Amino acid sequence: MKALILSGGKGTRLRPITHTSAKQLVPVANKPILFYGIEGIRDAGITDIGIVVGDTHQEIRDAVGDGSRLGVKVTYIRQEQPLGLAHAVLVSEDYLKDSSFVMFLGDNLIRDGITPLVDEFRQGKPTSQILLAHVKNPQDFGVAELDGERVVRLEEKPAHPKSDLALVGVYMFDKTIFEAVKAIQPSKRGELEITDAIQYLIDKKFDVRSHVITGWWKDTGKLEDMLEANRIVLENIAPLNEGKLLGDCRLEGRVVIGKGTVVENSTLRGPLILGERCVIRDAYVGPFTAISNDCVIQGSELEHSIVLERSRIENLEVRVEGSLVGRDVVLRHTDARPRSYRFMIGDSSSVDLV
Ligand code: TTP
Repeated sequence: MKALILSGGKGTRLRPITHTSAKQLVPVANKPILFYGIEGIRDAGITDIGIVVGDTHQEIRDAVGDGSRLGVKVTYIRQEQPLGLAHAVLVSEDYLKDSSFVMFLGDNLIRDGITPLVDEFRQGKPTSQILLAHVKNPQDFGVAELDGERVVRLEEKPAHPKSDLALVGVYMFDKTIFEAVKAIQPSKRGELEITDAIQYLIDKKFDVRSHVITGWWKDTGKLEDMLEANRIVLENIAPLNEGKLLGDCRLEGRVVIGKGTVVENSTLRGPLILGERCVIRDAYVGPFTAISNDCVIQGSELEHSIVLERSRIENLEVRVEGSLVGRDVVLRHTDARPRSYRFMIGDSSSVDLV
């Protein structure tokens, strides 16, 4: 069996981060989301992985390489335009050939992995098997109607959902899916929809089954979901201090401090992770915070946030919360007169001030 990870797309819901980089590489607990997916696939016994990439292909190639570091063999498949999940399957035909495969959305996080689903598919050999989860707001998802384990109908964001079972970003297919993705037409939003391709299989009486997931999962396409994923992963983090504590520091709960990081006169309340070569001075860093390498947090308070590489947060008078701070960002208080806000902010940014 092979795997196909979808890491192209537009990422409009995570702008401005996605103006300059791939959303699949935003770190959750300081590890790119995409890596969790690759590891889950590897742990299910699949090492031949095709990664569908778009405009951000170079960044993804730089981060993942040939996959050997993660114990897998990666082939990159270029999708010139993000024309839909079924289109991503279509452009991968030469790579997948006759092989059955698991398709995994590169921005999804499935905490307990996908091994049971893959095992079930290997044993039952259906034409397709989809991963479903009970959700509170099915009208926001692709929703499945079941007869036992068999899927009888799929509906994209239905106004009156027939069940509370939403499609999670993992799908298994045999080669019959190529017949389906070639037969369907683009939807109203101009994309080849994977739900339409699966509905085609159902209508042609192929065996489409489901597997209902009970553990935690998240589509991290939006800021709140990204922060929640960060929170869930940090909840299980093991404490480790490879840095240096100076002066009067207080550490509470599970705290990870990376190599070369200096914490001085600060309170760290875990679970949290600090990357390498950071400086945390006269600061409070609170629960569910992940700070990437080479950041400076000085004279400020921060919690429930993700801060990417080389950013600085200095002397802010109000605590920073629920934030995603990009790379090379400077957020600082100055005493310059007249007192005013001075911004240089990218397109589609969002700033809440008190
Ligand atoms: P989505 O999050 O559904 O789409 P998107 O990335 O365009 O984001 P947004 O809705 O915020 O604009 O995509 C799910 C995953 O599939 C994600 O990792 C991107 C990937 N993808 C492709 O690789 N090719 C595509 O044509 C599409 C639509 C998505």
